[in-house]
Amino acid sequence: MKKIGVLFGMESTFPPALVERINGADVPGITAEAVRIGHIALDTPSDYDVIIDRISHDITFYRAWLKHAALEGACVINNPFWWSADDKFFNYDLARRLGVAVPPTVILPHKEHPAGTTDRSMRNLQYPLNWQEVFDTVGFPSFLKPILGGGWKNVYKVESPAEFFTAYDQSGDLAMCLQRGVNFDLYFRCYVVGQEKVRVMQYDPRQPHHLRYVQKPAPLDPALLARVEGDCLKLCRALGYDLNTVEFAVENGVPYAIDFMNPAPDADLHSVGQANFDWIVGAVADLAIRKAQQGRMPAEIRAVKFLNGELG
Ligand SMILES: Nc1ncnc2c1ncn2[C@@H]1O[C@H](COP(=O)(O)OP(=O)(O)O)[C@@H](O)[C@H]1O
Ligand SMILES: [Mg+2]
Repeated sequence: MKKIGVLFGMESTFPPALVERINGADVPGITAEAVRIGHIALDTPSDYDVIIDRISHDITFYRAWLKHAALEGACVINNPFWWSADDKFFNYDLARRLGVAVPPTVILPHKEHPAGTTDRSMRNLQYPLNWQEVFDTVGFPSFLKPILGGGWKNVYKVESPAEFFTAYDQSGDLAMCLQRGVNFDLYFRCYVVGQEKVRVMQYDPRQPHHLRYVQKPAPLDPALLARVEGDCLKLCRALGYDLNTVEFAVENGVPYAIDFMNPAPDADLHSVGQANFDWIVGAVADLAIRKAQQGRMPAEIRAVKFLNGELG
């Protein structure tokens, strides 16, 4: 019997729906359950052929176990190695090289020394920074946001150098980037599953949380839609994510990719709505079943491939 495990944190709707959908599909030889693990030894085999990871970004122990499970030949959605290596600045840089539109973006040194470091740890840093050049590159309004983060935490919209410095002062020891604000008239969040399926959802970030996913969206220009779908696939294939949401802000018909580091994307019924929920549950269930049917890769081969950077 091939086993699919779902690893999750506080969310309550998506994980059980996924387990139910996979088991309800009645595919011979495939079963799904909520993951159960305790301590792990170096030679503990993985009980799971496929693991859908919704929480290892918050729980280091889980991330370590998932890397071990990958060595055991399990398929982890999303690949914990990619996820561990990723950051938003790298994302934007990669996007630009792939021909995806991104706003001008600058990464900045931490405002405060990271814990356990002093100014002696950062003697390579130019001081003071050339702030005028930063502001000329990015412009205003702009967004100051962490390169590692999510859920709008520590994201500041700033309209002037004075507002920027106030926000930067509050950013502590986080690594932040400053990005030109897109003056958008349309905004999309797109589910991308298995580096193949895309669901473009109109989203209004200016609304309160429960109203953000537009339930009766206006029809979209087919050329814009095609570009957005193409950009989603390009980005997720290059980043190696099997499950992601890619966010675009559209200004003058150009979709700017502004957040595509969401490897455990919001999939809560109460925020995305029934139709989006049904779609994402179905798409991830199908993907997990397909990956389980492909079978495990022998651990030795996977390890060597990982080290050679051949695995997606
Ligand atoms: N360059 C930008 N232009 C316009 N809005 C932005 C920009 N960057 C961020 N935002 C707004 O801030 C929100 C949070 O930023 P985002 O990059 O998505 O970070 P998080 O990972 O915290 O979701 C976005 O959903 C969007 O509404
Ligand atoms: Mg976001």
